[in-house]
Parts: sequence; C-alpha cells; structure tokens
Amino acid sequence: MKSAKSADARRQGRKNHANLFGEALNTAAVLRVSLTCLIAGIFLLSAQEPDAGRQRPPAGRGSTREFLGLGPAPDAAAAKKGEPLFKQNCAACHGETARGAQGPNLLRSVVVLHDEKENEIGPVIQNGRPQAGMPPFQQLSADDIHNISEYIKLQVEQAANRGIYNQIYAGSRNALRGDPNKGNEFFHAHCNGCHSPSGDLAKIAAKFPEASLMQSRFLWPASRDPARATVSTPSGETVTGTIVKLDDFDVALRDSNGDVHYWPRSQVNVNVVDNLQGHRALLPLYTDADIHNVTAYLETLK
Ligand code: HEC
Ligand code: HEC
Repeated sequence: MKSAKSADARRQGRKNHANLFGEALNTAAVLRVSLTCLIAGIFLLSAQEPDAGRQRPPAGRGSTREFLGLGPAPDAAAAKKGEPLFKQNCAACHGETARGAQGPNLLRSVVVLHDEKENEIGPVIQNGRPQAGMPPFQQLSADDIHNISEYIKLQVEQAANRGIYNQIYAGSRNALRGDPNKGNEFFHAHCNGCHSPSGDLAKIAAKFPEASLMQSRFLWPASRDPARATVSTPSGETVTGTIVKLDDFDVALRDSNGDVHYWPRSQVNVNVVDNLQGHRALLPLYTDADIHNVTAYLETLK
C-alpha cells in the first residue's frame, strides 16, 4: 500500500514536473518564434526602407497613408535627380526648397497637391504662366518634369512632418537679410552691361520701395515697350516693326512709318524680338543669397 501510494505520488510529481517543463518549453518556443518574427520584421522593414518610393508600400503603411489622406509616397530616387534641376530652374522664383520667394510657395499649391503623374504640374512647367511671371520650360524632358515633381512632393511630405522639418530647416529660419555691398559687386559683374545705377536704374528704389516687389521686378521684369518682330519673306525682304497680330495663320507688323503689313504665317519667317532674353538668361545664375543681396543693393538707389 505504502509503496503504491508513494509510487503514485512520485508519478504525480513527475507528471507535474513534466507539465512545468513542458510549459517552460512552450513559453520559450513562443518567445523564440516571436523574437524571430520581430527580427525578421525589422529586417524586412530596413530592407524596404530605401526602396520605399519605388515599390508599393507594405499594406500597413499604405493603409496608414490612405487613412491620413496622403497620396502615393514620393519617389526618393527621382526626387534626388530632380533636386539639382529644381535648384537650377525654379529655385530663383519659388525658393530653394519650394517654399516661395516672389513666386508662390509650391508646398501649398493646389496644382501640386492635386497632381498625380504630372498631369497638373507638367503643363505649368512646360507652358509657364507668362502673364503672371513664370517662363515656359520647353527644354525640360518628361523625365526631368517627373523628377522635379517628385522633388517638390518630397518637400510637401517633409513639411507635413514637423519633426523632420525642424531638423532640416533649423538653420535657414535664421537666414540674414541681403548685404547691399555684395549686391553692388554682383550688379557690376552681371547687370552693368545693360543698366546703370546712375542712369536707367538711378531712382529704382523710389519706384519699388518694398523689397519683395523690387525682387520680383528685377528677377522678372516686364518690358514697357510693345512686342516687336522681324519678318523675312521668301523673296528676301525683311520688315521690322511692332506686332499687330501674330497667331498660327497670320502675322501683321506696323513699321516705323505707321504702315501695317500682312503675311500668311506659313509663308514667312517670324523672329520675335525678346529684349528681356539677356535679362532672363541670368535666372539660373542666382543663388538665394545673390537675390537678397541684389535686392538690398537696388533698395539703396533712390
Ligand atoms: C521667373 C520666375 C519663375 C520661375 C523661374 C519658375 N516659376 Fe513657377 N511660378 C512663378 C509665378 C510668378 C507663378 C504664379 C503664377 C500665377 O499666379 O498664376 C508660378 C506658378 C507655378 C506653379 C503653379 C502654382 C499654383 O498653385 O498655381 C507651379 C506648379 C510652378 N510654378 C512650378 C515651377 C517649376 C517646377 C519651375 C521650374 C521648372 C518654376 N515654376 C519656375 C514664377 C516662376
Ligand atoms: C542683357 C541685358 C540685361 C541684363 C544683363 C540685365 N537686364 Fe535688367 N532689364 C533689361 C531690359 C531690356 C529690361 C526691360 C526694360 C524695359 O523694357 O522697360 C530690364 C528691366 C530691369 C528692371 C526693371 C526696371 C523698371 O523700371 O521696371 C530691373 C529692376 C532690372 N532690369 C534689374 C536688373 C538687374 C539687377 C540685373 C542683374 C542682376 C539685370 N537687370 C540684368 C536688360 C538686362
């Protein structure tokens, strides 16, 4: 009896041990599995991070973006290619990071925010808004436009994240205003050939006492004169005058005697005189600092 009892007890005890041991094993297995998942997860995430733009984001992130009302993630590789193109072609007017200068802030632009696949931004870049002061950029390829658009969209994305914003732009918030002496140097290097601070621009600051207006005027001046063109005919005749009519079908000029000449557009060569071409050719040259310096200098001409 005694031995049976103790055998029972021993068996019971072993069973308990086995149970405990089994549970411990199970817990360890669960832990190991979850650890593996975690590590695999981290691995997967870090492996996907650099590609985030090119590949479709994983379901979790995609639905978060959707939930937040965000469009597709900007393509980081394209944005990187677009950055120098933006700096060269657009920054003078829209600011180094598209936050606006005398051209509008593109981060709040409805055109940019509504854009998918460049169907909104593309036409603005290619045709410009000449009446409002934006030139056309017909030399930019579809790829260039795509890359520039992705660069702008990446700026929108980063602005939406205030944490990143503070890291990136802490420095530029303390930017100094322009230095008129440096502006003077720039003026004598690049503007003096066509203008004179004691001649045509002598009182320019009286005309544009506000720095922002001065800035937009010198970056993108409007010509006061009516547009002029030279027409050459197949017979070798050339006429220069102010444009009365110029479309796909007809061209008409008024010459210096006041006489108006008409030609069918397809039969003549038309060369529109753009007296601001040289002035506009400077646009890619300016850095942000140059713009502020030249503005500060022009403000001294009263
Ligand atoms: C010479 C100055 C200038 C340059 C250079 C310039 N822009 Fe503009 N841009 C403007 C002005 C001014 C407007 C506002 C036009 C208007 O009010 O309709 C504008 C408007 C836009 C708009 C539309 C904004 C909106 O919401 O209506 C986009 C997009 C844009 N620019 C993109 C670009 C890009 C990209 C480049 C470079 C490839 C560029 N711009 C170069 C002056 C410029
Ligand atoms: C290749 C010649 C050329 C160069 C270089 C040039 N400009 Fe101009 N600029 C013009 C012409 C042409 C006009 C238009 C004048 C007109 O038709 O009224 C003009 C207009 C202006 C105006 C507007 C004047 C007004 O009364 O509204 C300002 C300001 C100006 N330029 C400043 C500058 C500055 C600053 C530089 C150098 C950074 C510069 N320009 C370089 C040719 C040039």
